[in-house]
Amino acid sequence: MASGHDSDTFLAQKKMSDEVKAGLAERPGSYTMLTGDRPTGRLHLGHYFGTIVERVKLQDAGVVPYIVVADYQVITDRDTTEHIADNVHNMVIDYLACGIDPERTVIFTHSAVPALNQLMLPFLSLVSEAELLRNPTVKDEQEASGHALTGLLLTYPVHQACDILFCKGNIVPVGKDQLPHIEQTRQIARRFNDRYAPVFPEPVGLLTESVLIPGLDGRKMSKSYGNAISLSATAEETAKLIKKSQTDSERMITFDPDNRPGVSALLTTAGLVTGREPEDIAAEIGNEGSGALKRYVTESVNEYLAPIRSRREELAAKPDYVREVLAAGNAKANEVAEATLAEVREAMGMVY
Ligand code: TRP
Repeated sequence: MASGHDSDTFLAQKKMSDEVKAGLAERPGSYTMLTGDRPTGRLHLGHYFGTIVERVKLQDAGVVPYIVVADYQVITDRDTTEHIADNVHNMVIDYLACGIDPERTVIFTHSAVPALNQLMLPFLSLVSEAELLRNPTVKDEQEASGHALTGLLLTYPVHQACDILFCKGNIVPVGKDQLPHIEQTRQIARRFNDRYAPVFPEPVGLLTESVLIPGLDGRKMSKSYGNAISLSATAEETAKLIKKSQTDSERMITFDPDNRPGVSALLTTAGLVTGREPEDIAAEIGNEGSGALKRYVTESVNEYLAPIRSRREELAAKPDYVREVLAAGNAKANEVAEATLAEVREAMGMVY
């Protein structure tokens, strides 16, 4: 339902994204990156190629990076926090195994940073009910959840503005579905600055270049569809998952995402992990059928993930170290959030 206005907004955001990318190499230290994930399960290849690789690149390029493990976002559309501590712990392990360096990147959770959460109060006063109800991503998520629209689901984009603005984040690497939230964040920053004093930057969403990796059945890769290859899965589990993925009876392997979603998803996956073109892989396998294709995908995925998985195992054997990383990230995030909240109180004349 892209109205003219929505596509104009998208083009404007795309343009800003391209401009920032062009400027990044020159002055990386003037950019603060904030992004994050909901700890609802293990990270999979979709997360990895969709955003983790980009985060590591930005970190290594010298931007100031923050990653939020968005634990309060878990309860936007579900009514339990079962497994949350385990999911948070494993998410930190996934990040570290993928090359996020805790010496440079601040990894923290919402629930450990009260001053971040307190920004929610002034920020909520800056948005109208109509603006909240208009957010297309919130609408989609509410429909998908089958739950009533909770107050937290309706307002979590504002909470996400708190995530981004507490550290004065000015770049947010995200997928397209998150752009409405970035737009809301920019509006909140602008309105706060206009009403009180210039405290916040207007962050830009960095559209990630990477392809949306399809799940093994050609749909979006998602744990809930059972089509996702987790970074933490074993080589055997990965082989089993690929083996039972749906292909078709056509022996000749071709890359044709519209008509052959299963075969093409396998080719896309193999292409990403080998750096080859899916068409070339298809031509090489040719008439050998989907059995041969699946063997190739299994081998190449397992080979690609082997070093990540072995780092994962090392980290899993050191739970105290992982907890220390998160505790240090939380301490740093608290320091930064308190400094920003002090500026906010000052700007609002609330220093008593
Ligand atoms: N909503 C994001 C997701 O579901 C996760 C997230 C939480 C986030 N806070 C953020 C992303 C701040 C970017 C910026 O993937």
